[in-house]
Amino acid sequence: MGTGKTTVGRLVAERLGLKFLDTDIVIEERQGKTIPELFQLHGEAYFRDLERRLCRELSEERGLVIATGGGMPIDPDNRKILNSSGTVIRLWCSPSDILSRVGLGEHRPLLNASDPLDRVSQLLREREPSYAALPFQVNTATRDIDGVVERVLEIASAANRSKETLSVGVPRTGGYPVCIGDGVLSLLGDMLRDRGLTARVAVVTDTNVGPLFLGKVLSSLSTEGFVPFSCEIPAGEQSKSPAQLQYLYECFLDGRMDRRGAVVALGGGVIGDLAGYTAATYMRGVALVQCPTTLLAMVDSSVGGKTGIDLPQGKNLVGAIKQPLLVLADTGTLVGLPQAQVRMGMAELIKHTVIGDPELFRQLEQSDGRLSLTPELISRSVSVKIRVVEEDPYEFGRREVLNLGHTVGHALEKCSRYSMGHGDAVSVGMVAAGRISQRMCLCSSGLVDGLETVLARTGLMIRHTYNPEDLAAVMAADKKAVGGKVRFVLIRDLGLVEPGWEVNPNLVREVLEELRESH
Ligand SMILES: NC(=O)c1ccc[n+]([C@@H]2O[C@H](COP(=O)([O-])OP(=O)(O)OC[C@H]3O[C@@H](n4cnc5c(N)ncnc54)[C@H](O)[C@@H]3O)[C@@H](O)[C@H]2O)c1
Repeated sequence: MGTGKTTVGRLVAERLGLKFLDTDIVIEERQGKTIPELFQLHGEAYFRDLERRLCRELSEERGLVIATGGGMPIDPDNRKILNSSGTVIRLWCSPSDILSRVGLGEHRPLLNASDPLDRVSQLLREREPSYAALPFQVNTATRDIDGVVERVLEIASAANRSKETLSVGVPRTGGYPVCIGDGVLSLLGDMLRDRGLTARVAVVTDTNVGPLFLGKVLSSLSTEGFVPFSCEIPAGEQSKSPAQLQYLYECFLDGRMDRRGAVVALGGGVIGDLAGYTAATYMRGVALVQCPTTLLAMVDSSVGGKTGIDLPQGKNLVGAIKQPLLVLADTGTLVGLPQAQVRMGMAELIKHTVIGDPELFRQLEQSDGRLSLTPELISRSVSVKIRVVEEDPYEFGRREVLNLGHTVGHALEKCSRYSMGHGDAVSVGMVAAGRISQRMCLCSSGLVDGLETVLARTGLMIRHTYNPEDLAAVMAADKKAVGGKVRFVLIRDLGLVEPGWEVNPNLVREVLEELRESH
């Protein structure tokens, strides 16, 4: 409220030749009552329900400029609907600016308080996590009305490049948007502007990705007034190391980045994990933007906030949960991605369909395996991960389902001394989990056959060459095994996957034997 959204919305609509709607006015007209009257007669919940219905209704329409009530984007479902049907821009200013604009009139039921300034500040604090999840932000205190209108028009035209915008809700600390589309990297500057960051932004990338996309990212940032600098590290898993962590700290210090600076991770999962962990710890934490450039990073590692580095003793032994400010997945970057890397991402994509998108699994089952990596496909897959991490942002339980195929997968990676790719290992692991589930009468053999077909058609491995005894020993020693007891994620049905199963070791060995290549 008080940020000028109705005035700005009207002017923007005029400039674009579109119809303008203010959701508060629509509700008042339809109900024949003012909002204060609705609050008084029926309570806030009744009003929010009207808002929710209107949000759904308007999402079916096109060619509108809509000013929403300030409470509408607080509801995560409303946010999802708004993001998927248009470009969402938050106008903001300070609590004192808001108060000086709205005054103390009775038409603002939420401001009925003895200290309105305190009340506005409190409301903003409560709502900030939801507002932070909106993709574009415009500070209305630093511009006059015309300036705000121009900025909104600029954003609206640039945002056409984003095909899919999702929103991840994180309790307490705030949510973040995930924009997926061909060319979205050029939106980076627009999306970072007005988020309260200082000018120095570090772009971390690797020696393969830098030459391809760094120029685009730096120019998008410079155009919007940032003073970016880049830190390039050698491509490959070996860079997720304490030495590269140290190098990045030094690079950030040399670049004079302070606490309100931001780190942009431009690359695959290695860059996302390393740059993310550096951002989580540099000066006790600075903002992080994930710009994934591999399929695996787009559908998996860039979302959920897990970051970390490896130690000589093992992978991912040091880490932190660091939620990004935003995720920009530019599908145009996937064009030159080596096929082996595409397959690695496909393993996670297929895993997501088993966990939470049966319809997409069926489509994959019926396809000939030649898939185009469209924003829609990536969005469907990452949506499953988003749903799971929203239920369990700090990995206390439900998130374990994402480890489907990983119990056997990790053991295969270890036994192969990491010569077997992670995606292939997870693929064989999923087949093993499927067969164990079927042998325990949890799911049908048809489902497991379908899973094998989909994985094999993508070119992923579904058999291994290792001794089941060796694999079982590695599994028992894994950091995720509790007291030597190996836990599996098992499949009851497509979309119905359960973590925490302790499986009879003899059955595990039998299934691993069945899947051994020589059989
Ligand atoms: N944080 C998480 O939740 C999470 C989840 C899964 C995996 N991971 C981690 O992700 C890492 C694996 O990620 P990855 O498979 O993306 O590996 P990667 O980052 O090493 O990228 C793979 C290779 O592709 C190159 N590359 C990246 N983008 C490219 C592009 N657009 N065109 C051409 N080449 C490109 C890279 O330089 C690299 O050589 C592992 O370290 C794993 O632990 C993290």
